[in-house]
Amino acid sequence: MREVALTNRLLQYSLGFRAQYVVEVSGLNITVFPGVFPPVSPFSYDSLLLAEANDAQPGEAVLDIGTGTGVQAIISAKKGASKVVATDISQQAIENVGYNTTKHNLARIINVRKGNLFDPLEKGERFDLILANLPFVDHPADRVHEHWVYDPGYHSHREFFSKVKEYMKIESRILMAFADLGDVGFFEDQITRNHLRIDQKISDEKVGITWLVYKIVGG
Ligand SMILES: C[S@@+](CC[C@H](N)C(=O)[O-])C[C@H]1O[C@@H](n2cnc3c(N)ncnc32)[C@H](O)[C@@H]1O
Repeated sequence: MREVALTNRLLQYSLGFRAQYVVEVSGLNITVFPGVFPPVSPFSYDSLLLAEANDAQPGEAVLDIGTGTGVQAIISAKKGASKVVATDISQQAIENVGYNTTKHNLARIINVRKGNLFDPLEKGERFDLILANLPFVDHPADRVHEHWVYDPGYHSHREFFSKVKEYMKIESRILMAFADLGDVGFFEDQITRNHLRIDQKISDEKVGITWLVYKIVGG
């Protein structure tokens, strides 16, 4: 399978780094810890496309689901968001976003929480902008770092779309990455099935893959 071969190459590339290193995204230096999804790599155009699409406005409340290094959270805070909540299931990611938040002097703005999807949120917390770059290949994930790239049975995507409205305001928008390595038909069906609407679809062809960012709004 093409998607498994390519995601294996990403995992091999990333796991080759034994120490932290720095990449530049949207003019910002982002430190990548070993064992955390790199926002710059031959297979990370989802991160870069989402970073470009990030239209956080001054004063907005932003939620970054599956934050990894925290790259999307840092960009949101730099654009003037007044509150950013960044969540991830990976302990290494939580430590990595904490490091980047301190490095950029954004600890007052970015609140880092460990857990699955919306589990770390308080009841009634709502956001103007929800960013998500979840793994988009439906394949078993045996090791923790495989959850960067594999969402077995699309369990996380199904749960994301069934619950996200509880954390949206009337005018909220979601910016979410995907790629044709995954099942685009399934992804778009989840949006309409959950009474949401695609407002904009941004795409970019790189390394033989169509990388996508969807702007999704209430239906
Ligand atoms: C493709 S990486 C994206 C990282 C970062 N947002 C970026 O754009 O570079 C996906 C991240 O989602 C996290 N993740 C996977 N499943 C998750 C879930 N169910 N809940 C929260 N985080 C999850 C992974 O640990 C990983 O850090």
